[in-house]
Amino acid sequence: MDAGSNGTGTRLSLLVLHLTILFLLGGGAEAATSFSFTNACAHPVWVGALNGATSPPLSHTGFYLASGATSSLAAPSSGAWSGNFWARTGCATDASTGRFSCATADCGSGDVACNGRGPAPPVTLAEITLAAPGSGGLDFYDVSLVDGFNVPLRIAPSGNTSGNNGCSAAACAGDVNAVCPSDLRVLSGSAVVACKSACNAYGSARYCCSGDYGTPAACGPTNYSQVFKAACPTAYSYAYDDASSTFTCSGAAVYDVTFCPAN
Ligand SMILES: *[C@@H]1O[C@H](CO)[C@@H](O)[C@H](O)[C@H]1NC(C)=O
Ligand SMILES: *[C@@H]1O[C@H](CO)[C@@H](O)[C@H](O)[C@H]1NC(C)=O
Repeated sequence: MDAGSNGTGTRLSLLVLHLTILFLLGGGAEAATSFSFTNACAHPVWVGALNGATSPPLSHTGFYLASGATSSLAAPSSGAWSGNFWARTGCATDASTGRFSCATADCGSGDVACNGRGPAPPVTLAEITLAAPGSGGLDFYDVSLVDGFNVPLRIAPSGNTSGNNGCSAAACAGDVNAVCPSDLRVLSGSAVVACKSACNAYGSARYCCSGDYGTPAACGPTNYSQVFKAACPTAYSYAYDDASSTFTCSGAAVYDVTFCPAN
């Protein structure tokens, strides 16, 4: 009898433990658990990752991704996370200095890992803010051309997003380099490898939406930002381009970042 009760008690505790684990796993599954990176470009890229000031770094802050390759990074399990991803191109290690650097979007660390450093513009940025796990809140994400363009990219939630509003892909799939105004081009030989934003190129308050132009009402599109917007309608083409460029989702397990996505 005693032995029987003990056995039942043990089974009950195990059941409670199992339910607790299932609950915890279930709670975790509501928040994004990883980022997946696919290089659909015909050339290699070196992915850069930068966490926001109040977010923990990911396990890798920069890595090589061969043409056609896919790789993933775990999202932090503790709290909300925000940060940026981008592609570096034309990277090599200098034989004499041992220093690693890239023709576009270099992070200046001298290493494949960016170690807390952001990219030098021009760069296409994937920007993402994940809701805190279990909060049921929204994730925010966008593709930004505010610091120019180097590589087409798309960020899209995947996993079970059925029943959610939003959750569509944010992308700049068009090749802005091909339509880049001549005064904004970054050349490698005769090839256009990146396209500066007008703010990068001229630094004026008007193009940078700063100073007297530091409000949405005072800083509309310009003839330059319209070139970016025409090529990439769902990406940020200047600082206050929010209406058509911010995306939200809840319940996505994975965010897929694709470089050179199909149009
Ligand atoms: C996907 O999520 C919806 C809404 O939360 C749920 O009803 C459905 O069962 C889920 N499907 C799968 C395959 O998990
Ligand atoms: C934009 O306008 C400025 C002056 O108004 C002009 O100098 C420049 O060439 C124009 N650029 C484009 C891409 O239209």
